[in-house]
Amino acid sequence: MLKKIFSSKKEKRDISIDKQLDLNKLPQHVGIIMDGNGRWATGKGLIRTSGHKAGVKTLKKILKTCIKYNIPILTVYAFSTENWKRPMTEVNFLMNLFSSFLAEQIDEMCEDNVRIHFIGRVDELPGNLPNELHAAEERTKNNTGVRFNVAVNYGGRDEIVTAVKNIASEVQSGDLSIDKIDDKVIDDNLYTKDLPPVDLMIRTSGDIRLSNFLLWQAAYAEFWFTKTNWPDFSSEEFLQAIVDFQKRDRRFGGLSSK
Ligand code: IPE
Ligand code: IPE
Ligand code: MG
Repeated sequence: MLKKIFSSKKEKRDISIDKQLDLNKLPQHVGIIMDGNGRWATGKGLIRTSGHKAGVKTLKKILKTCIKYNIPILTVYAFSTENWKRPMTEVNFLMNLFSSFLAEQIDEMCEDNVRIHFIGRVDELPGNLPNELHAAEERTKNNTGVRFNVAVNYGGRDEIVTAVKNIASEVQSGDLSIDKIDDKVIDDNLYTKDLPPVDLMIRTSGDIRLSNFLLWQAAYAEFWFTKTNWPDFSSEEFLQAIVDFQKRDRRFGGLSSK
């Protein structure tokens, strides 16, 4: 039973994976829970933080793949509101990694026409990081290529609680009547406002859960899990996830479209 949940890398394929891709049926919005950095590192006898460093390389590759195939929106989970529970040394390492990732990548992202956006409680991040993240958003805001959302200090429940508070205060001030509250009003109060919902949600490293990521936006997402740890995740596996997604029958509560 469990076997079916995970993709099989061993399956023999005659045609290379990019040839199997239907460029007219690409997911518009892909979410990725980049998990397994720590396990990758400890499995190699290394310290956990070297797994995070290796994970950055994978992220660069996957972003390039989205650029190459014109996948419009990529949203990745980099740090959750729950990740503060980790040892301070690991948390500090991650914060520095976000900062150095941006410093190293921002020019290339501009060349690649990528628009970066951060979602989560960004302003509560330590030191100068909030300014650095906002500066990167500002620098890329007119780019028209891949929309690259990075969730940092993000929690799906927290996002919904914040939306509820905003909507409640609009009701209280008389700017909004209760019967006008619908899906769209809630969408408009999320970090992802103006973006379509997640079509494909990928999680690496074998755990089969959302861990508080994009709870509202993934309501009708197709889920795709792999046992591969994030640092070992490849562009081929990413394309495999998309090919598998293209074979799914998305009924949205209706009847089969096939
Ligand atoms: C994901 O890898 C990265 C972050 C949560 C920042 P983990 O650090 O969770 O790796 P595992 O799950 O412990 O292997
Ligand atoms: C989810 O991974 C968060 C990120 C990938 C950033 P976790 O490793 O924090 O999730 P749990 O604790 O296994 O649910
Ligand atoms: Mg993890």
